[in-house]
Amino acid sequence: MDVPSLQRLVDRYPALIEEAERHRDLGWYPVGGEVLKQRYRPTSAVIDRFADHLFGGIGFDSRDFAVAVNELHPGSYGHRRPEIQGEALSRYRGMFEGQAQIEYRWLMEKYPGRLDDWISLVNEIYDFGGIRTPIALDRRYFFSTFHALRVGRRAIAASELMRGRPVRTLVEIGGGHGRTTRDLLWMLGAETVFYVDLPLNMLLAARFLGHFFPNRVNLVWSGDEAPVEGRINIVAPWLVDRIEVPVDLLVNFLSFHHMSIDALRFYGEHLIEPRVGALYHQNRDRPREAFDVGLDDYPFRTPFAVADRRDEAIVFDRRGARIGAIIEELLVR
Ligand SMILES: C[S@@+](CC[C@H](N)C(=O)[O-])C[C@H]1O[C@@H](n2cnc3c(N)ncnc32)[C@H](O)[C@@H]1O
Repeated sequence: MDVPSLQRLVDRYPALIEEAERHRDLGWYPVGGEVLKQRYRPTSAVIDRFADHLFGGIGFDSRDFAVAVNELHPGSYGHRRPEIQGEALSRYRGMFEGQAQIEYRWLMEKYPGRLDDWISLVNEIYDFGGIRTPIALDRRYFFSTFHALRVGRRAIAASELMRGRPVRTLVEIGGGHGRTTRDLLWMLGAETVFYVDLPLNMLLAARFLGHFFPNRVNLVWSGDEAPVEGRINIVAPWLVDRIEVPVDLLVNFLSFHHMSIDALRFYGEHLIEPRVGALYHQNRDRPREAFDVGLDDYPFRTPFAVADRRDEAIVFDRRGARIGAIIEELLVR
């Protein structure tokens, strides 16, 4: 994205936050740590190379910046990540190589024919910054990041599970900075896309998706902007009623489990129940905080049947005690 258009996006951000606050009582408003994100005011330099700056709630965690868990907090958002060298770099490389082996084994066991697709997803370019590391797998050489390795499998799994169900219209709620939307778009070839997340994420997704799909991103950030067929529409949560077409697939990764029952009801009533044909998600099986909801209690389950359900990962608390599992589920009408 060129500098003037990035600056234009960043210039719109204060108005976007004002709109968010004006519509906060509709039900979608975030809870917990996600609220604190709204206080941060970005610059275009930070948004341009966001993977070089500390952020939570955009899909990255402390491991992606090679910092300790307590170094990533709302007060640190937007700060340049420390450069890693020496011992810390060796540790990072060890963790990276371990993750690469886990993902490669997963792929070879489940979908060996998708190796080229998977490499195209985890092959990382340098335009957003981040700790990019060389990798050699199956006599192929490329660069990736710890984050890319961790999330690359999602679009492979979703596209396999959706075989035989064409996805012309795709929605992601809580898409972080847009990476999985991009991956699914590449793997499923959807025509019209809607990305819904909080304001900071909308800005990052415009930067990220605008890079990979120039001239295809359409902003639905204010009441006078409408979604456009065939485009990637970045839609503010309070404007989801603007999505008026049937949705073949809606996805959510590690995001419903950060929402209140009010937000789940809001997305359920305004989008999921009236329009969505299939819902693929990965979220915690039980609540972790006072405000969140285990997946069996999501209020929008009624119209759907479970087509696939399996454990994706174990969840530990900060002291290392097991507190549940991330479940992967495909729900269909
Ligand atoms: C842990 S992050 C996961 C991001 C991404 N899906 C991933 O897995 O890489 C949680 C995401 O949910 C989004 N989120 C939290 N509350 C939300 C709400 N009420 N409405 C929309 N998005 C929300 C956050 O902004 C963030 O992008």
